Amino acid sequence: MSPKLLKIAVIPGDGIGLEVMPYGVRCLEAAAKVFGLSLEFEHFDFASCDYYEKHGDMLPSDWKETLLKFDAIYFGAVGMPDQVPDHVSLWGSLLKFRREFDQYINLRPCRLMPGVKSPLANKKPGDIDFWVVRENTEGEYSSIGGKIFEGTDRETVVQETVMTRVGVDRVLRYAFNLAQSRPKKKLTSATKSNGISITMPYWDSRVKEMSSSYSDVSVEKYHIDILTAHFVQRPEIFDVVVGSNLFGDIMSDLGPACTGTIGIAPSGNLNPEGKFPSLFEPVHGSAPDIFGKGIANPIGMIWAGQMMLEHFGFSEAAAAVLKSIEIVLGRSDLEVMTADMGGKGNTQTLGEAVEKEILAFK
Ligand code: NAI
Ligand code: MG
Repeated sequence: MSPKLLKIAVIPGDGIGLEVMPYGVRCLEAAAKVFGLSLEFEHFDFASCDYYEKHGDMLPSDWKETLLKFDAIYFGAVGMPDQVPDHVSLWGSLLKFRREFDQYINLRPCRLMPGVKSPLANKKPGDIDFWVVRENTEGEYSSIGGKIFEGTDRETVVQETVMTRVGVDRVLRYAFNLAQSRPKKKLTSATKSNGISITMPYWDSRVKEMSSSYSDVSVEKYHIDILTAHFVQRPEIFDVVVGSNLFGDIMSDLGPACTGTIGIAPSGNLNPEGKFPSLFEPVHGSAPDIFGKGIANPIGMIWAGQMMLEHFGFSEAAAAVLKSIEIVLGRSDLEVMTADMGGKGNTQTLGEAVEKEILAFK
């Protein structure tokens, strides 16, 4: 069910996050105007390296209470490695949001858009159109483990994979539901049960168990090594792909990479129950190399806003924003496109072109 009023915390962060965010917000405002949605935006300057230089921390001490009042966080990018080391800026902000708000789903579309050249040969829009669903809180990325005999020839390191039934089932349920909502109704699970002989057979057994409640969803599984090869060689076989934290991490970079520039890919970090805010962001970082030039591609930011509308059930508005992005990209107008897409335009020309399309929807 969609909330009557969607409360959005806007956090542009660093670098080109500051440049693309205004167009993300403008496109959401345009969609709200056309489709009569009530969106409320509040802007925050924390989770940025400038904030860190002023306050000695990435976030204010009451950040959690502050952000808990929102349904969603609309996030630009964080990190300015010449100003603050990346592990300080990233761990002190974005990773805290993801963990402490139990955003256990990382969701990324892999969709080849019109006007965008895929690095894969002979692919056209429609050939690549799937979702990667990544478990975002446990699995291989646990901090359970340790070192002994450091500095000796018996030096030993151990790090455990943690899979809980709650953790595995909730990501699978999300993925099955997503597959069920799509025309193809197909779920592909990433495994490696031939090599990882305890946790991966467990993962497979939970997939099998859950599939009995989704008789209309067809299920396939592949070992992660051949699965990644299929992303490149046969991307059209996928619809919804689900994986553990590590496998999902790899797939959620490779998938969007098969569909073109990093400047257009969006991502959602979701707490589907809405107990905590979900976070929507472009896949790219702060791009210090192009910051200040006004040439960053705003599509990743705008598309992340589109995912937000979709997540909260504003399907008509979400479809219009996606269509508007497709129309503008499909025109391949070099005066409008940013340099990463071979154009001569800038953040403003591309951002405003999408905004204009959205406004033309009614
Ligand atoms: P990056 O994604 O910022 O940039 C990689 C390359 O892609 C650069 O050449 C950049 O110019 C280009 N690029 C990225 N976004 C673009 C856009 N919208 N339009 C046109 N070109 C674009 O990754 P990088 O350079 O590894 O990291 C820079 C900083 O961003 C670091 O501090 C890193 O930690 C941080 N970062 C933050 C992320 C986040 O906030 N979720 C994600 C990735 C990196
Ligand atoms: Mg990654």
